[in-house]
Amino acid sequence: MFRADSQRLQRQIDELAAISEAPAPVVTRVLFSEADLKARAYVKAIATGMGLQIREDAVGNIFARWPGKDPSLPPVATGSHIDAIPNAGRYDGVVGVLGALETFRGLKESGFQPARSIELIIFTAEEPTRFGIGCLGSRLLAGALPPEKAESFQDREGVTLAEWRNRAGFGKQPLSSVPLPHGCYSGFVELHIEQGPILEKEGLDIGVVENIAAPSTLRVSLTGVGGHAGAVLMPERRDALLAGAEIALMVDRAARSTGSPDTVGTTGVFRIEPGAVNSVPCAAHLEIDLRDTQLKTRDAALAEIEQAAKEICARRSIQFRMERLNVDAPAVCDPNLVELALSASERAGLKARRMISRAYHDSLFMAQLCPTTMLFIPCRAGVSHRPDEYSSPEQIQRGAEVLSRILHDLSRPTHGTM
Ligand code: GLV
Ligand code: MN
Ligand code: MN
Repeated sequence: MFRADSQRLQRQIDELAAISEAPAPVVTRVLFSEADLKARAYVKAIATGMGLQIREDAVGNIFARWPGKDPSLPPVATGSHIDAIPNAGRYDGVVGVLGALETFRGLKESGFQPARSIELIIFTAEEPTRFGIGCLGSRLLAGALPPEKAESFQDREGVTLAEWRNRAGFGKQPLSSVPLPHGCYSGFVELHIEQGPILEKEGLDIGVVENIAAPSTLRVSLTGVGGHAGAVLMPERRDALLAGAEIALMVDRAARSTGSPDTVGTTGVFRIEPGAVNSVPCAAHLEIDLRDTQLKTRDAALAEIEQAAKEICARRSIQFRMERLNVDAPAVCDPNLVELALSASERAGLKARRMISRAYHDSLFMAQLCPTTMLFIPCRAGVSHRPDEYSSPEQIQRGAEVLSRILHDLSRPTHGTM
């Protein structure tokens, strides 16, 4: 049976990691940055070299298809992302893209010819860095985000998605052409590092995802009154940072007190203006990430934070604007695919378990289009979104092998009704 060429795969992972906005070992590839565009070109060159058919949509999602013998059957899909948050590592997303290409290569070399087409999707902006909202490409594909709303998203410099699409060469088609019909794929399976410690701790090879936690993001803009740090006396202060600091503490408190161990809250963006030591901060911009496996506790914490932010700003005479960038439901993975992934792991002689994904992934939205699950592989100490993120070549190889078995099975015509 197929074994990934782990040396070639590792070399490609390392080459892709060198395409970064920051010096090694940091990987940073923000949507449509020069590094992101170069990374796309790198992956497309591999796919083209393997004879895959490439299509790109209006938001820059890339589809690399291995045509099946029966083009009338909906294809089976796999994929992930290659954009990377600031100060990231080299495995998040990349393993599911380059690992998938390696499985295609292995299957091709074994002489296998799929009945259904097998398609790799490289999703645009799984990471929320530029526009504050994650899974931009898959969200649009699933019809979970109105294209006209997305088009007017602005980054920190006020540049819209419409403008970025033009700059990146995706502006010719309207964004409304991105959504795909339900059932366009017979199934979707995403290979990804776990981004948590469980598989390593339990000495397991594979996690099969049954549920993906529900993410939400708030953006808060606070406007106070700036001034000279020596001259403005304390009773006169309307310091935007202090209101922001109270809100950030409230996020932490709200997430800790829902009663659910799965609620997590993070204020990951906190910028102040003008950012001078002898000047009272006149503005603060916060982005808050709040997640849970349960909607009830997540939504209660969200409402609590919003209410507290209003009270804090009123008490401190700070003007504020608060926006829910996304408030998503959790995903439930397809039970048949979960079973198939467990049996494929077993057939490969690997130890697997069922898991929850606490991180979000493009699978959150692919699950709205077709039966979906994810394969996790262990990563060292559960570390992710850091330059020291690591999975070994052998761990990645095992993940690729299970993915290969699944794609092999799913590309049979009988899986059409799954
Ligand atoms: C994905 O990167 C996430 O933040 O869960
Ligand atoms: Mn990530
Ligand atoms: Mn990821």
